[in-house]
Amino acid sequence: MELEDQVALVTAGTAGIGAEVARLLVREGAQVIISGRNAERGAKVVADIGGGSGQVRFIAADLGDLDSVRNLADQAGEVDILVNNAAGFPTGLTVDQDVASFQTMFDTNVRATYFLTGLLAPAMLAKGRGSIVNVTTMGASMGVAGASGFSATKAALASFTRSCAAEFSPQGVRVNSVAPGPTHPDGVLGEWGERGEDLGKNLVLGRTERAAEIAEAILFLASPRASYVTGSTLAVDGATAI
Ligand SMILES: NC(=O)c1ccc[n+]([C@@H]2O[C@H](COP(=O)([O-])OP(=O)(O)OC[C@H]3O[C@@H](n4cnc5c(N)ncnc54)[C@H](OP(=O)(O)O)[C@@H]3O)[C@@H](O)[C@H]2O)c1
Repeated sequence: MELEDQVALVTAGTAGIGAEVARLLVREGAQVIISGRNAERGAKVVADIGGGSGQVRFIAADLGDLDSVRNLADQAGEVDILVNNAAGFPTGLTVDQDVASFQTMFDTNVRATYFLTGLLAPAMLAKGRGSIVNVTTMGASMGVAGASGFSATKAALASFTRSCAAEFSPQGVRVNSVAPGPTHPDGVLGEWGERGEDLGKNLVLGRTERAAEIAEAILFLASPRASYVTGSTLAVDGATAI
């Protein structure tokens, strides 16, 4: 077990990719905090992957709300690993996008990641070690019709990743991103249905991916095995080609 002395916070650990990341971090011996809005789902994941060991705990937080972000940081305390995974995904063509859901999406995906990182990084910097992994999307670096707002939030996080690496990594805190493709059966595919499956068929690997496949990449970046990796975005997306 490579993370026995580490504390990890995984936002949106109550479902999908976040729950799989939490499972792997527990397997590697970390103390894991998962956050989400839904306490029932949180309790289920804690029971499922923690098995009563006390190794996993849930903190309720709506990351669309800045006070909730601050409260999450307070309750989490010092962490060694931060996985910024929470995101909202209202789909829609640019010409149809309403302002309220655009704002909520930027608040949840960008503002929360920015300030949660700002609140938790100082303790990592003081210790001279830590790893932050931001979850973006393949859409951050390619055009996906109907996902312009979502992709823009994730492109902002790719930039934020590089800036944080420049600020934090000289003091031992690595910052990276993982960019998933269409992942079955969670999130985007839940919203997009058949269109998500079709996206998967057109990838080089010819299928959608499993949450566990992305979680393995996040675990790698969080772990000391990635000790010389910072400021990077790892595409875990089945690859596009023409
Ligand atoms: N699935 C895909 O195809 C795909 C593709 C590219 C990128 N991604 C990215 O991967 C990450 C995880 O996606 P997923 O598909 O695993 O998610 P998912 O299965 O749809 O689950 C969504 C998660 O986000 C949490 N969440 C949503 N809004 C929140 C808010 N305002 N505050 C706090 N938590 C919130 C939910 O928790 P509660 O309901 O408990 O609040 C839940 O844990 C996201 O950053 C997503 O953008 C996913």
